[in-house]
Amino acid sequence: RTFEYIKVSTPKPGVGFIELNRPKALNALCTPLILELNSALRTFQSDTAVGAVVLTGSERAFAAGADIKEMKDLSFAQAYGNDFIESWSDLVTFLKKPLITAVNGYALGGGCELAMMGDIMYCGPKAVFGQPEIKLGVIPGAGGSQRLTKAIGKSRAMECILTGDNITAEQAGEWGLVAKVFEGPQECVDGALATAEKIASYSQIAAKACKEVVNKSQDLGIREGIEFERRVFHGLFGSQDQKIGMGAFAAKQKPEWTNE
Ligand code: HXC
Repeated sequence: RTFEYIKVSTPKPGVGFIELNRPKALNALCTPLILELNSALRTFQSDTAVGAVVLTGSERAFAAGADIKEMKDLSFAQAYGNDFIESWSDLVTFLKKPLITAVNGYALGGGCELAMMGDIMYCGPKAVFGQPEIKLGVIPGAGGSQRLTKAIGKSRAMECILTGDNITAEQAGEWGLVAKVFEGPQECVDGALATAEKIASYSQIAAKACKEVVNKSQDLGIREGIEFERRVFHGLFGSQDQKIGMGAFAAKQKPEWTNE
């Protein structure tokens, strides 16, 4: 399938790659773009050859937010009645494979929220994060108030969301919003692809379980979280890949995963 607003490829073994491609509007996230993005993610989700996915924008903008021009005349009834933005949550909830977001340039509003949907976030030196919705008379609507607060703490998140001021790449690195700040935009994308390739070289069953248990830590208390982790850990002794992985270690061989 050909897309208008995104570019889709598999540049490395096991790696699905999506580049947002609406340069004239700094990758503003209009509805057709979001639908294309969902469609590409769905395809990668069901492609057994893909073990991890990288999402990026351009050097100038990861995404400058939801499309303000598309949104501006929405009524409450339309927004509420059609669950405006709810389809965005599909992006996080249905993708069971690790997602790395590689951010260069602007990641504002919905763009910052989309970046934060990544399981791992990387950025380049000129990345700019922000939730400027207050300047438009609204608030973050795709998880920003929740994910940003969990990522950098309440006081910093409040400051960002209440002032609409941006967060630099350096701050994002220091505060742990991103896992790594790279030297340049290409290094950031290459780094994301290399990490995705490494993840894709492991058992997809194990990677899926890793993602599931770490995500649970966001919702559960420590005790329930540890119990959940142990159940999932026990469950993996029912997989072939556990036998293959531990057997290969004992035999000093390289494991050949079956994803079963
Ligand atoms: C629609 C947008 C856009 C957006 C940029 N453009 N951001 N169109 N929605 N979010 C368009 C501009 O209108 C312009 O189109 C073109 O992209 C280039 O942008 P410029 O403003 O000319 O570029 P520049 O001067 O370099 O400024 C870059 C910028 C600025 C600082 C990123 O564009 C900006 O402030 N954008 C809005 C950022 C924002 O408020 N985002 C949050 C949106 S609310 P033309 O046709 O004039 O060339 C949101 C709510 C999320 O995301 C809720 C849940 C999803």
